[in-house]
Amino acid sequence: MTVLITGAAGFIGFHLANKLYTKGFKIVGLDNINDYYDVNLKHARLEEHGICKNRIEYGVLVQSEKLSNYSFIKLNLEDKEQIDAIFQNHKFDIVINLAAQAGVRYSIENPYAYVNSNLVGFMNILEACRNNPIKHLYYASSSSVYGKNKKTPFSEKDNVDNPVSLYAATKKANELLAASYHNLYNISCTGLRFFTVYGPWGRPDMAYYSFTEAILKGETIKVFNNGNLKRDFTYIDDIIESIGLLIEKDKLKVTKLNRVLNIGNNKPVKLLDFISTLENALNKSAKKKFYPMQQGDVLETYADIDQLIKITGYHPKVSLSEGIKRFTSWHCDFLVSQKKNPVKKRKT
Ligand SMILES: NC(=O)c1ccc[n+]([C@@H]2O[C@H](COP(=O)([O-])OP(=O)(O)OC[C@H]3O[C@@H](n4cnc5c(N)ncnc54)[C@H](O)[C@@H]3O)[C@@H](O)[C@H]2O)c1
Repeated sequence: MTVLITGAAGFIGFHLANKLYTKGFKIVGLDNINDYYDVNLKHARLEEHGICKNRIEYGVLVQSEKLSNYSFIKLNLEDKEQIDAIFQNHKFDIVINLAAQAGVRYSIENPYAYVNSNLVGFMNILEACRNNPIKHLYYASSSSVYGKNKKTPFSEKDNVDNPVSLYAATKKANELLAASYHNLYNISCTGLRFFTVYGPWGRPDMAYYSFTEAILKGETIKVFNNGNLKRDFTYIDDIIESIGLLIEKDKLKVTKLNRVLNIGNNKPVKLLDFISTLENALNKSAKKKFYPMQQGDVLETYADIDQLIKITGYHPKVSLSEGIKRFTSWHCDFLVSQKKNPVKKRKT
């Protein structure tokens, strides 16, 4: 089976490609390798998959030097012509759209990055799926669609018509666009509402990563809403295991379906407890400065994962302290490897 993973140079896409590769899928990874955060980290992930930076050229499919059934193409989702071409050339069975402009706070600074990647880009994926029949489209949604939902845990049945950020609005729009393409063209679609995913090879723009770097450097961390926030931190392996099982189960289905699923941990953690866990793992205290609530942020995220468990039988396994330990250990190794062998900057 051939799978297209968009956002393959990103955090979740990188791990998912590893998982599906070991399950025997043929994988085409796609990413525009944008500089929303350090591109060296994106290239380091690609290098792990045998895709060296100096072989990457826009619009050209590169075969992995390490994995026989993995190839990668640098492409913008907004590039409709090239997206259509890659679908025509590969006849994908499964499409997993993870490429998006992520982050709640950046959507205040750069709203059009969200419109371009998350709306125009996603439309191109839907149109390509319409014109080149596939078995299933999985796409990243987000816990942020729940906005200021007060009822916990957050259930897929809850109303999510009141987004508090543009990012959340684009993710909710993805769910509606997918529903319309399912109704119109009978495409099987699953929206994956991820809840604060963390772990090795993670995202430097997220708090667990930026706090780690600040604590190690002795810099002050910004604690918003005076620490009165809760997040349902979900370890990357638990996310990836769930998606892998979901795909296996869906392969056996003949009926077309449209659904959204929470993929979370079902254990919200207070921000200050999270910071203590990080301090313990790093064996160093954080210098904290307290700030009011930020625009676009939500007080709490808390996933009801009954539906996911019902389908996959999988319960999240990795505790926050264990997951943070694994993250900080990777982070330390990664810093050393980058110093020894920095990914060379490309001359443009
Ligand atoms: N990590 C989380 O906690 C989390 C939570 C909720 C939802 N999500 C969603 O899951 C998906 C994956 O998240 P991630 O944490 O791996 O983020 P990431 O930023 O590490 O990965 C996204 C990748 O998509 C690529 N990309 C962005 N716009 C593109 C475009 N227009 N064309 C081609 N490539 C493009 C980026 O270069 C990046 O490598 C995203 O859709 C994100 O919104 C993530």
